[in-house]
Amino acid sequence: MKIREVKIREANENDAAALAKIECDIWKTNYKHIFSVEVLEKEMKPDVHTEKFEKLLRKNDKNSVFFVAENQKNIVGYVLILVKRNCARDNENSIVGAALKKMEKGQALLGLLHVAPEEQGKGIGTRLLDYAKNYLQGNKLRTLTGHCFFKDEQGTKFHMKTGARVKQRMVTEVFGEKHIQFRLELDLEKGGQ
Ligand SMILES: CC(C)(COP(=O)(O)OP(=O)(O)OC[C@H]1O[C@@H](n2cnc3c(N)ncnc32)[C@H](O)[C@@H]1OP(=O)(O)O)[C@@H](O)C(=O)NCCC(=O)NCCS
Repeated sequence: MKIREVKIREANENDAAALAKIECDIWKTNYKHIFSVEVLEKEMKPDVHTEKFEKLLRKNDKNSVFFVAENQKNIVGYVLILVKRNCARDNENSIVGAALKKMEKGQALLGLLHVAPEEQGKGIGTRLLDYAKNYLQGNKLRTLTGHCFFKDEQGTKFHMKTGARVKQRMVTEVFGEKHIQFRLELDLEKGGQ
């Protein structure tokens, strides 16, 4: 795969199954040292995640931005960003709505940034984040907040390289298990550096 041949475009409902496969593969590969086998087997079912993505993409939500990276028509990664805009008030029970409730104006939240395990380390994550950053800067967003598991060395290294700063270290409960997570922030007004 040549990185220059990877195209970035907006996600649509037809991408849901491919997105779900990547998400489940990542959890079972990258996070296998973080979560128990039982949790991964129970929670990472591609059908369930396909439905989640279909729902999210069908909504055509003005508060989220969803881009995919494609190599010869195969999706190899994606980025989902939640954006707090002035206008819309989202349903607080939806995935996006619940996260938005906690955000301030001008803030964007990195919801998901995933690159298929077999394509990691080739520059796709950087391309996706740069693309999203351009979009956010063009829309006058000030900061991009992300979260990363303490034990996810690869993810942490990636975020540090983008210039993000650790703002908080916290214990969160994910699928009934307690894990240490970092909250990171990228200053978009300083060019995201
Ligand atoms: C984190 C992730 C999005 C990075 O995307 P990527 O395409 O693999 O990363 P890139 O090739 O653009 O590399 C950028 C930097 O990330 C870090 N990185 C990437 N792969 C790495 C690896 N296997 N080991 C350690 N660091 C790695 C390096 O700092 C790298 O910079 P360098 O090449 O100058 O060393 C991707 O690996 C992924 O999906 N991981 C699993 C999910 C996850 O952790 N998401 C982030 C938390 S929100």
